Order: sequence, then C-alpha cells, then structure tokens
Amino acid sequence: MKVRVLGSGAGGGFPQWNCNCHNCARLRQGSLRGSPRTQSSIAVSSDGAHWVLFNASPDIRTQLEHFPAAYPRHGVRDSGIKAIILIDSQIDHTTGLLTLRESTRPLEIYCSEMVRQDLSTGFPLFPLLEHYCGVNYHPVPLDGSGFTIPGIEDLRFYSHALKSKAPPYSPHRQAPHDGDNIGVIVERISTGRKLYYAPGLGEIEPHVRAAMESADCVLVDGTFWHQDEMERAGVCAKLALEMGHLPQAGPGGMVEVLKALPAARKILIHINNTNPILDEDSAERKTLEAAAIEVAYDGLELDL
Ligand code: MLT
Ligand code: MN
Ligand code: ZN
Repeated sequence: MKVRVLGSGAGGGFPQWNCNCHNCARLRQGSLRGSPRTQSSIAVSSDGAHWVLFNASPDIRTQLEHFPAAYPRHGVRDSGIKAIILIDSQIDHTTGLLTLRESTRPLEIYCSEMVRQDLSTGFPLFPLLEHYCGVNYHPVPLDGSGFTIPGIEDLRFYSHALKSKAPPYSPHRQAPHDGDNIGVIVERISTGRKLYYAPGLGEIEPHVRAAMESADCVLVDGTFWHQDEMERAGVCAKLALEMGHLPQAGPGGMVEVLKALPAARKILIHINNTNPILDEDSAERKTLEAAAIEVAYDGLELDL
C-alpha cells in the first residue's frame, strides 16, 4: 500500500496567515529548523494509479500539483483521485471539495451520516456542488466493519466512531453524536498490512486502542503537545481536549499511548503551528526521536 501525506498541518497550516507565534514568526525569519506545512490530507493506493483521498484540504490544488502520481492520464479531463473519504466535516478537511468542482463526474464521497448532515446544512457543500459536478454520497459504517470502494483494488477500509469534535459551526459541537469524527483502518487485502489513520482523536477508547494495536503504521492526531498550548503561545485560550485533540505530553498523552504500541511506524500528523515539535531542534522533538515517534511532513510517502 502506498500512502502519500499531502498536508501534515492542522487548520491554518504552518505558518498560519495571521500568526506571529514563536513558531510562525521564526519560520518566516528563517531562524527555525523545520518545514512549512499545508492543511490536513493524505492519499492511499495499492497500485499507485488509483487513489483514495482522505479529506479535501483548502490547500488541495497545490497539494495535487505537487503529486504527479495523481495527475490526469486518460483523455482531456481525468484524475488519479477516484474517491474521497471524509473523517469529519471540519473546514480544514472539507473546503477543498469546492476546488474539485470541475470534476466531469460526481465526486464519490464516503462519510458518516453526521458529516453528510453538516455538509448539507451548516456548511452546505453538498447541495452547492449539485450545481457543479454533484456528489455521490456513500455512508460509512461506524462499528468497525469493513467496506470496499469500486475501482480501488486490493484495499479494504474499516471505519469506527471516535471521540473528538464536530466543527464549531455544527449543532453537534457541544452535543456529540457517533460519526462526528471517524478513525479508519486501511488494509491491503493481499498482504494484510494495515494503516491506522485518525488525524482528529480526543480519547483512546478500547476500540481505538485495539485498532492502533492491529496496525503496522499509525498516523494519528499530533495537533498539540500541551493541553494549554495555545494559551502558552499567547494566541487564544482554547484547550486541546476542548477541540477534540489528545495532547502529546504527560500521563495518558499521545506519546505514552504510542510508546506502548507494536507498530513499526508511529507518526504524528495534523500538527498545529503552535506545537514545539515543528522545531526540529526542540526538546520535545528530541523526546519523540527517543521514543521512535515520527512527525509527518508534506510529501512524506510510506510503502506498507
Ligand atoms: C480542528 O482540527 O480542531 C479544526 O480543524 C480547527 C479549525 O477548524 O480551525
Ligand atoms: Mn483540523
Ligand atoms: Zn503560529
């Protein structure tokens, strides 16, 4: 299975347009050892030609332009992106659907009923896209059972509900429903090798831990190091867990969770611009290195 990280940053990307925090300011000045990051998305494929996109980031046009494997090949209008799985309805995961409106066939979108509702009401991308390419909505299971996608050979997807957060615009923001956010295991059928993807993950419930333990590679929520990181950075008072993101530091934090897993590769993704791990010389980055935990970057490719 091939995995391409299209965007490894959280909402806003790195640097964020209006942010002058310790990280964003130093990246612009050239005094931070680290790389810019576009917003959250990956693509997966078994044959390198037919790809499933996970999330459609506001940066998708640039991300696809830097990804030759998904360039159009057949006829004047085409793409290697054959279907889209949305793990939630957050702005950083869905706004790129607008950029895909030139598609000559309806977008094949796999998501939960909760996400379909958000994208039909509070952020009505689905009805809006009916005036362009249209959308074929495919509901995904929330109980961990598997599904396949026509035209995507040799991959099976297993989706389950997560505790994270619906977007601020959603009526579910303070009233969580199963399916506001999902985690997905992607299995290559012929080899049994598995990726676990959950860029927005607030709580390691037993079914989540089991999914993580079953995977050869985990690609999970790396948004914040500290629970109060945005307050420390002086940008706002929102807490990591309030936003549905399990911080990395401390007892029960993501570093501790990842350390206990058997996976050959443990990779943080959806990194917020305030996170000290973006600085490759930081003490926090050294802590990750000592624990064999990687930090995803734009363009990272995995072969599972
Ligand atoms: C999140 O991951 O919490 C959201 O994408 C934040 C946002 O929409 O800016
Ligand atoms: Mn996000
Ligand atoms: Zn910043």
